[in-house]
This record gives sequence, structure tokens and C-alpha cells, in this order.
Amino acid sequence: MTQDEARSKIIFALDVDSFNAAKHWVATLAGRVGMFKVGKQLFTAYGPDIVRMIENFGAEVFLDLKYHDIPNTVAMASREAARLKVKLFNLHALGGYEMMALTREMMDREFPAGNRAKVLAVTILTSSTEETLRDVGIEHPVSEMVPRLALLAKRAGLDGVVASPQEVPLIRQACGDDFLIVTPGVRPAFAATDDQKRIMTPAEAVAAGADYLVIGRPISAAADPLQAVEAIVDEMATE
Ligand code: C5P
Repeated sequence: MTQDEARSKIIFALDVDSFNAAKHWVATLAGRVGMFKVGKQLFTAYGPDIVRMIENFGAEVFLDLKYHDIPNTVAMASREAARLKVKLFNLHALGGYEMMALTREMMDREFPAGNRAKVLAVTILTSSTEETLRDVGIEHPVSEMVPRLALLAKRAGLDGVVASPQEVPLIRQACGDDFLIVTPGVRPAFAATDDQKRIMTPAEAVAAGADYLVIGRPISAAADPLQAVEAIVDEMATE
């Protein structure tokens, strides 16, 4: 993989609580990483302005709002996400086939093919254990639910999933190569593990079949964030 290919696979997680802090990171990292992830905290505080700020730097956005509602509501929210010209956004596969299929239909109807936002599904949150699932009446193990929901998302016409690095092989097996896999929870060889438990290095995650990597603290908490990005790019490119 070339350095540019490696760079384009990095999604920086904008896990900050102020507009100015977000802007600082985008100004610093635009052109050096592939995309910026905006989650519920920043979006709830600052709304679409945060997305526009990032796009004004010529950078791309993964809008991580994990929609889960009745099909029509999710399809309508998805239309608004796509109108903001984000590159990726996501929803919960547990919302069901109809919710996902209607969202895909909306994308096809309203946006030119090849130029629309890509829709990802979250299968089972990595914070969930077998006990979490049993409490809500799901008696199947996580390892069975993840590929099952990924396949449901694929059948509904979604573009891919968000998954932990360990789940990548299972999902590739269930869904084939033509399906995006975005993985958080990677840690470069030089970085602290923080609260992430089952980790892989970025190079390992890509070798396992991940298309994009969501990376936050290994970059944001580094003494020299730009140097951290370059070290990650090097690790990935030499693989
Ligand atoms: O700082 P770090 O690299 O751990 O950030 C990872 C990002 O990915 C955070 O925004 C975190 O919320 C998100 N994420 C995760 N694990 C998941 C799903 C999302 O770490 N299973």
C-alpha cells in the first residue's frame, strides 16, 4: 500500500467538546488523514455547522450518529445527512431490514449514483456482552449476531459496517469483499492502549480486511500528533 492509500484510510475521531478544539484538529490534520468522524457529542452541541466547518477545509466527514428509529424517520434523517455531503454515516442494524432498505431506497432516489453518502450499519456495539444481549432478550452469542446483522445490512443494500478489528474476518466471510468495514479500536505499535481492550495495530487491521480505521487518542494524545500520523501511515504502508 502507498503512503497516500494508507493516509486515505485513516478517520480521525473528533472526540472533543468545543467547536474551536474541533477546528484546531481539522486545521492541523486536513490533508494528512482521510476523514474526520463527528459523533453525537459534537453534533448535539454544534449541529450541521461542525460538518460545514470540516468541509470548508476540503476534508471529508463520517457522521457517526447511529440512527435507530422507525423506517421513515431514519430514511428522512439519512436524507439530511446526505444533503450535508458527508461521505459516510451510520445506523443500527438492529433497527431492522425495512429501516435499512428504505434508507438505501431514499439514497438511490435522491442522490446521483456514485456520488452519494455511503451508509454503514453498526451490528452489536463492542460495549455489549452476551449478558447485555440476554438482558434485552437476545439469546445468541455476539459472534453469531455480528455476521448475521452484517449480512442483513448487506441484503438491505447498505454499503458496509462498523466493527471491531477482531470481527473483520467473520464479516468478510459472511459478506464478501464488496462491503466496507470501518474499524475503531486500533492501536499503533507505539501507542498506549487506553481503555481499548481487544486491539490490533492499524497494519494488522488492514491486513485482516478493514477498509477504514477510526483513530483518536493515538493521534490526539501524542506529544507530536503530526509525527504520530506519519508513524501510523508508515506502519500501514510498509505492511
Ligand atoms: O481514541 P480512540 O482511538 O480509542 O477512539 C476511537 C473512536 O472510535 C472513539 O470515537 C470511539 O467512540 C469510537 N468507537 C470505539 N469502539 C467502538 C465503536 C466506536 O472506540 N466499538
